[in-house]
Amino acid sequence: MMSMVRETLMDQADTLPLVLGGHSFIPELGNEPETEFDTQLEIVSKLLDAGVRCFDTTYEPERVGLGRVLAELGRADRAEIIAWNFFRDEATGEYLVPPRAYREGDLDRMLEQLGVERLARLVVHPVGDDDEDRRQTNLAQAWQADGRVVALGTWAPGDEPGVRFGVDNPYAFMVAPRNVASDNEASFRASKALGWTTFATSPFNRGWLLDRLVQSAVQAFGDDPESIRARLADAMLRYSLFGPCVDRLIIGIRRPEWIAANLAAVGRGPLEEAELQWLTRLFAEVPDDG
Ligand SMILES: NC(=O)c1ccc[n+]([C@@H]2O[C@H](COP(=O)([O-])OP(=O)(O)OC[C@H]3O[C@@H](n4cnc5c(N)ncnc54)[C@H](OP(=O)(O)O)[C@@H]3O)[C@@H](O)[C@H]2O)c1
Repeated sequence: MMSMVRETLMDQADTLPLVLGGHSFIPELGNEPETEFDTQLEIVSKLLDAGVRCFDTTYEPERVGLGRVLAELGRADRAEIIAWNFFRDEATGEYLVPPRAYREGDLDRMLEQLGVERLARLVVHPVGDDDEDRRQTNLAQAWQADGRVVALGTWAPGDEPGVRFGVDNPYAFMVAPRNVASDNEASFRASKALGWTTFATSPFNRGWLLDRLVQSAVQAFGDDPESIRARLADAMLRYSLFGPCVDRLIIGIRRPEWIAANLAAVGRGPLEEAELQWLTRLFAEVPDDG
């Protein structure tokens, strides 16, 4: 099964290592207000043109939003989509709610929302109950066996994923935060040792961490806010993406103008030692609660 997963995803090896984060499609988890549909079309289309083909969708409206955009663009076949076990609360309609275990019928609903016939990657986010987690993993494996999901993955597996899930586990990838406030280095290393593909998220922690660093630099050194924001965004993105054992980076983008800057940052490669020291020193100056 593992070799089939690797071969099936092999044709996607030519994509850039950036992944558009699903929070780009909802207003709550970022600095900007909700993006207009036209802006979403522009962002997704520019990213596809640039070779960014992977899209993450965590919360339910993110799947609906991305599905609408891909349908309008007629480019769903170009997208490699990551989906998760987050669903609207049936009683309240709220969607920023904790994950729940997958149920029969969920995959049909997710594929319909996204307008695709199969998912490249399905995250099985643990729900904190061993029986429920076993049951949902079995269900996800059944979806994989019938060909509607290519690879299964897990969220934030900790520093000993081999102990937690066993060396012979159903997963082929992991997603975990990695940024200057939280590097999760041991987790990335151990996940890579299991042969998993690793996805870092949150280089700017919703943009809030970036804002705190900008504020701090402006206060401490009188830097110009816009130029320091650009310099910091570049350094923070490269810190996350080029960390040890990180394969790809999921990043939120609500403004088309960030695309060129972020692609340029990818092109610059790992941080030089002096850049790393500048970033970590600046972070050390930032008060905890911003
Ligand atoms: N953190 C988690 O717990 C978690 C869990 C599961 C999945 N994820 C995935 O990870 C993705 C990213 O994580 P995140 O939500 O923490 O966001 P993030 O990528 O760390 O930050 C997104 C923010 O960065 C800003 N930004 C992007 N490029 C920029 C640039 N070049 N210059 C200045 N600002 C820039 C964006 O601003 P604008 O608003 O102006 O575009 C956006 O508000 C999510 O969308 C989601 O798909 C995260």
